[in-house]
Formats: sequence, structure tokens, C-alpha cells
Amino acid sequence: MYDFHFGDKEQIKQNPEDFLIFCKRLLPRWVNGIPDSECISIYRTLKSINRSNPVVLETGCGASSLALFLYVALNDGKMFSWDTNGSKGSFLRSVISESICRQLEVDLYKHWTFIGFDSTNEYAGIPVIKELKYTADFCYFDSWHTLDHLMNELKCFETVTGEDFIVALDDAYYTKLSNNFSYINMIRKKLGLDGVEEPASNVCSPFYQEVGSYLGKKYNSVEKIADSYKEEYKRDMFFNYFAGDRAAMGSVGMEDSSALEHRYDCWRISK
Ligand SMILES: C[S@@+](CC[C@H](N)C(=O)[O-])C[C@H]1O[C@@H](n2cnc3c(N)ncnc32)[C@H](O)[C@@H]1O
Repeated sequence: MYDFHFGDKEQIKQNPEDFLIFCKRLLPRWVNGIPDSECISIYRTLKSINRSNPVVLETGCGASSLALFLYVALNDGKMFSWDTNGSKGSFLRSVISESICRQLEVDLYKHWTFIGFDSTNEYAGIPVIKELKYTADFCYFDSWHTLDHLMNELKCFETVTGEDFIVALDDAYYTKLSNNFSYINMIRKKLGLDGVEEPASNVCSPFYQEVGSYLGKKYNSVEKIADSYKEEYKRDMFFNYFAGDRAAMGSVGMEDSSALEHRYDCWRISK
């Protein structure tokens, strides 16, 4: 069902970004959570990793998993994804297997480990990368969008990196400290309940500022990567194509279209 024909292995290697978007557009909405321009930008950020057999991580799987997978498949790397929704992992495995692995003749399980569990768990979350004797080069953070959870994930990631690593964030303009009231209100709406008001104490600075400042204080070298998303998102057809559900998401605060420039942000760090 997902083995649409794009071209042979050589054509894919010559046009990996076109192939990535071709595969992404096969996805149903529930696993296609990021704009095309962000997906391409993640792929380009990954390409700047300067190491053979790269090890890349993500929290919250979906279209982003295609970008990470294509990168590790073409660069003999490894990828680990955490998502508490096991159905997403299982579904993406079948899509990736049909749409990417068959064409590139690669073994999905050699390159991708999906962990259907909390990313921050001490025994089965990001810290296990060390136990598995890998060193991580990159992490894309896109799970439970609160600063508390993000910082917990980031601190787990810091325990498994080498000297150089890249931090990439989705929804980096969010300002939710401990509770994601937008998501909670979306769930309450589906339950037929009134929304609850977000207390002022739950509002923090945007994640890109909080994380940028945390990294800047801690490490010798922190370079803000000039990502292509900021150049390209305004022309991205994803936003119009999904305008209907995005308007509904905006009404419960899940998307702030005025802040979209900072939907994606990333940094290169040297310890
Ligand atoms: C916004 S979606 C991810 C979108 C995806 N990156 C994409 O490109 O479409 C967020 C995901 O994070 C997962 N999640 C939420 N809390 C989590 C946690 N503590 N650990 C792992 N995954 C979590 C949810 O199940 C959900 O699938």
C-alpha cells in the first residue's frame, strides 16, 4: 500500500529530499505532525553531523521519523525513537518498510529501534543509549510539549552524547512550563467538558530561549544553526492543506501562527 514508485536506488540517492517529501505525503494526518519545510530542515540538520555511523534520537515519532530514517539508511547509522503511543511506531514501521527499505534494500531493524515508552524513564528511556554502548550525535525533541518534560529529556540526552552533538526542537515557541493546557483542553473538548484556564504560573519563556540560554551557560561552544525552515515555511503548502484542523488546533491554543518562525530551532554544541 505504501510502496509507491519514486525511482530506483540511484535516483533516490540523487534526490533524497524529494524522495523524503514524496514518502511524507503518503502519510495520514495522525502521523504527519510537522510541516514539509520542517521535515526537510531536520534532514539538512542531520546531514551536518560530521561522523561515520551516526546515532540519532527522537522523542515523539511521525513524519520526523522518515527524515531520521532516510538519513541513517543512507549513512549507515542508527536511530532510536521514543513514543508512548506504540501504534504510531508500529504503523510507521510498516510505512518505512514499504516506502523506503524496499527501494534502498536496507533492513529496517538494523537501523531503527522504536521504544514504546516514556522517553525520560531511567531504565527504558534515553539513558539506555549508554547501556547499549552508543554515543548519540543528535536528538529531535517533539513529545510532551512542556518545559519541564523537555528539560528532563535534554538532561537525559546530555548523559549519552559525545563531545559534539546537536539539539533540535519542535514547537520551540511554546511557553508551557508544567502542563500542556492546549492539549489538555483539546482532550476536554472531545469529552464534552469546558476548557480550563491556564494559570499564569504555567507560562515560561519560549522553549528556544530557555534551551538556548541553558546550553549557552553550560557549554564552551554553542552555535545556533541557521535552519532552512525559517526561510521556507511561509511557502509550505502543508499549512494550507491542513488549514481546517489547524484552525481548530489554534482555537485551543495548540498552534500560534504568529510564532511559527520558531517552530523549529537547533543548536550545535561542543563540550
Ligand atoms: C507531536 S507528536 C510527534 C509528531 C512527530 N514528531 C511528527 O513528525 O509527526 C508527540 C508525540 O509524543 C508522544 N509522547 C508524549 N509524551 C511522551 C513521553 N513522555 N515519552 C515518549 N513519547 C511521548 C505522543 O504519544 C505523541 O505521539
